Amino acid sequence: MKILITGSAGFIGFHAASEFLRRGWNVIGLDSFTDYYDVRLKRNRAETLAAFKKSPGTYSLREVDICDLENLRQTFAEETPDVVLHLAAQPGVRYSISHPFVYQKTNVEGFLNILECCRHATRPPKLVFASSSSVYGGNTKMPFEESDRVDTPVSLYAATKRANELMAHTYSHLYRMQIIGLRFFTVYGPWYRPDMALSLFADAMLHDRPIKVFNNGDMFRDFTYIDDIVNGIVRTVESDSLPLYDIFNLGNHRSEKLLDVIETLAQTLGVTPKLEMLPMQAGDVKATYASIEKLHNAVGYVPQTTIQEGIPVFARWYKSYYRDETSS
Ligand SMILES: NC(=O)c1ccc[n+]([C@@H]2O[C@H](COP(=O)([O-])OP(=O)(O)OC[C@H]3O[C@@H](n4cnc5c(N)ncnc54)[C@H](O)[C@@H]3O)[C@@H](O)[C@H]2O)c1
Repeated sequence: MKILITGSAGFIGFHAASEFLRRGWNVIGLDSFTDYYDVRLKRNRAETLAAFKKSPGTYSLREVDICDLENLRQTFAEETPDVVLHLAAQPGVRYSISHPFVYQKTNVEGFLNILECCRHATRPPKLVFASSSSVYGGNTKMPFEESDRVDTPVSLYAATKRANELMAHTYSHLYRMQIIGLRFFTVYGPWYRPDMALSLFADAMLHDRPIKVFNNGDMFRDFTYIDDIVNGIVRTVESDSLPLYDIFNLGNHRSEKLLDVIETLAQTLGVTPKLEMLPMQAGDVKATYASIEKLHNAVGYVPQTTIQEGIPVFARWYKSYYRDETSS
């Protein structure tokens, strides 16, 4: 079986590609290596995948921008994937306030290109794509369930992810394509994105700088370890009993207080953190908390990793990857 993974040089794409290779899938990675964050990290991930010798599956990489429809069409025609795992996107809630147009371009137009390429394939592939917990906006009913209303996003990023879910429904309905959306909840782990809170906290702690804590620390996040996310993706991709269209939460089902997360990270790194308390930032939400019953019932998903287990693994990777910068 052949899987095309868009955003394969990204944090989640890299881990998903590694696991599909281990499971014997032939993986075609696709990424345009955007410079939203350190491109060296993306290149290192792609090199690690290319050096994956022991896997039973094969790996190749296409450097393609999903907004370049002609190139994307050619990739689909030449590769004829059985499954498309669409993870490429412009992520980041706060960045979408200052850079709105790239979200429209990559997350909306790019997503439409993926739908069109799937639709026109000789054998339309199953499409599994990344949505986000941010579609729940400022909802206060916890935990977030897939049946909750999601009509009030508070960032453009969230609005584009919700738009993807609606566009996917339309294509699935019109063309009988199988499309499943997964709403990821704050993913973390080794090879992490440098723009995410845990990375920013680790960087500040290791350089003895104050940590910016928004909403005076009164924030809660459902932190999901990368291995659990990949497990949920694999189960979704490999299941043959899912409906033509559906949306699932993929989270940990534990809403952690941000200050506790900071404390766990600080203990792991052996530092006393300095906190700079700040007001809520535009586009942010106070809390996320995933109901995971629907995905559990559909494919047997059960997350395994607490933050007490996952944060030390992330911290060890962080210190080792940024050894030169953190040893000074
Ligand atoms: N990490 C999280 O906590 C989280 C939470 C919710 C949803 N998501 C979603 O999961 C997906 C993967 O997120 P991630 O954390 O791995 O992000 P990431 O930024 O590490 O990975 C995204 C990859 O997509 C690539 N890309 C961006 N624009 C592209 C384009 N136009 N053409 C081709 N490639 C392009 C980037 O170069 C990058 O390697 C995204 O869709 C994101 O919105 C992530």
